[in-house]
Amino acid sequence: MSSSSSSSSSSQKDLNSSSSLSKLPLRKIPGDYGLPFFGREEFFNARMHKYQSTVFRANMPPGPFIASNPNVIVLLDSISFPILFDTSKVEKRNVLDGTYMPSTAFTGGYRVCAYLDPSETSHAPLKRLFMSALAARHHNFIPLFRNSLSELFTSLEDDISSKGEADFNDISDNMSFNFVFRLFCDKYPSETALGSQGPSIVTKWLFFQLAPLITLGLSLLPDVVEDLLLHTFPLPSIFVKSDYKKLYRAFYASASSILDEAESMGIKRDEACHNLVFLAGFNAYGGMKALFPSLIKWVGSAGEKLHRQLADEIRAVVKAEGGVSFAALEKMSLTKSVVYEALRIEPPVPFQYGKAKEDMVIHSHDAAFEIKKGEMIFGYQPFATKDPKVFENPVEFIGNRFMGEGERLLKYVYWSNGRESDNPTVENKQCAGKDLVLLLSRVMLVEFFLRYDTFDIESGTLLLGSSVTFKSITKATYT
Ligand code: HEM
Repeated sequence: MSSSSSSSSSSQKDLNSSSSLSKLPLRKIPGDYGLPFFGREEFFNARMHKYQSTVFRANMPPGPFIASNPNVIVLLDSISFPILFDTSKVEKRNVLDGTYMPSTAFTGGYRVCAYLDPSETSHAPLKRLFMSALAARHHNFIPLFRNSLSELFTSLEDDISSKGEADFNDISDNMSFNFVFRLFCDKYPSETALGSQGPSIVTKWLFFQLAPLITLGLSLLPDVVEDLLLHTFPLPSIFVKSDYKKLYRAFYASASSILDEAESMGIKRDEACHNLVFLAGFNAYGGMKALFPSLIKWVGSAGEKLHRQLADEIRAVVKAEGGVSFAALEKMSLTKSVVYEALRIEPPVPFQYGKAKEDMVIHSHDAAFEIKKGEMIFGYQPFATKDPKVFENPVEFIGNRFMGEGERLLKYVYWSNGRESDNPTVENKQCAGKDLVLLLSRVMLVEFFLRYDTFDIESGTLLLGSSVTFKSITKATYT
């Protein structure tokens, strides 16, 4: 691990000072819309260098039969990006997936919370319901997740000993679905008609909604075939209708306490339940599907030295605090920093969109740009959170980057659709699960390094993130 993180923060000017930003020269936004493009990292890099600008115009997939207008203004630096969090300036209506919106037939005919702009009257009650449901379950987060993780580690060890390796994604997806279902419904999904089908049903439902955005990356399929298959027409919801019904019924029958609360708040029971299925399946399970393999991939690739440091910190704090508690987790500075670093280097939700509510001027590090009302703004987060003007050695995974002085850089970590230094409210669009996600990621590392000293993995890419295969795992040899 390098110790370079603190020097980057001390050499940093105050990038947000409005007086320094207002002196920047006004520049016409470079770029043209041309043909829609695919192959995103290379494209963004090439255009950024061609225009010598982190703000430019481009086209985003999917094509015109799905998206009404694929033209966007791309933001690639950490200064311009947060305009997307300012809901007084950008409209977040129907932009969750970008320039197109999947049919509401996927969600019982309702536009669910994540597609609503805060100015729409149903956004605040729904988000308040979720935040209240989470707050009421706060005491259960740690014991329930530890219990889910013990099942995960048993499967991992069994697979490694029987097959010589373990597919982490499958095991993690099952664990995540069980955890989320038990959190909201107080029973195992296997106690309902879902049986063990939950994860595969949700994965299929997600795939149908997100297909226009997904890059299969199959070398067998030329890009043009993939474009025709996935990016030209939306996939019809009819193929997932009966599966979705099964999912909905399981939640409807089991999440009575949340649905009762919804009704007492004036939300219709079926609307609340479709929203809950989306919260559990899309926001929570979908997020975890991308996040947990990515976290394990980065920690795994960082190697034995970091593993030793994490194990030392975690075991010492757990011993001193007498267990895994909120207070104990708060004291684990390296563990916390490692989680932030994983979320910075590979934000699980890489795309953010918003439509300008008014004419405005936005700033990058070195110029100002005029945006007209109605124009679509698109932030590609992996570039914004690897901005070399903010983060030293931005493409390197530096476990202790956010420790000590490095905490100052947390305001440039954007994974939750907001700054890490801000919190979700019913007026903004920041992830309602922000604190829970951080907690679960920390507990995953804690449970891991209480049990094991180190591990080896192989990783690759998948439709929604990274694939991780465990090759070996070493049981804890010291306390
Ligand atoms: C596990 C990893 C997760 C990640 C990476 C993640 C990320 C995000 C992001 C990026 C957004 C904003 C999307 C946009 O509007 O552009 C969002 C919204 C949201 N997330 Fe999460 N999320 C995760 C887990 C969760 C969990 C566990 C919950 C709740 C149980 C949750 C609840 C929500 C809700 C309700 C919204 C919509 C907020 C609103 O409409 O104001 N998320 N999440």
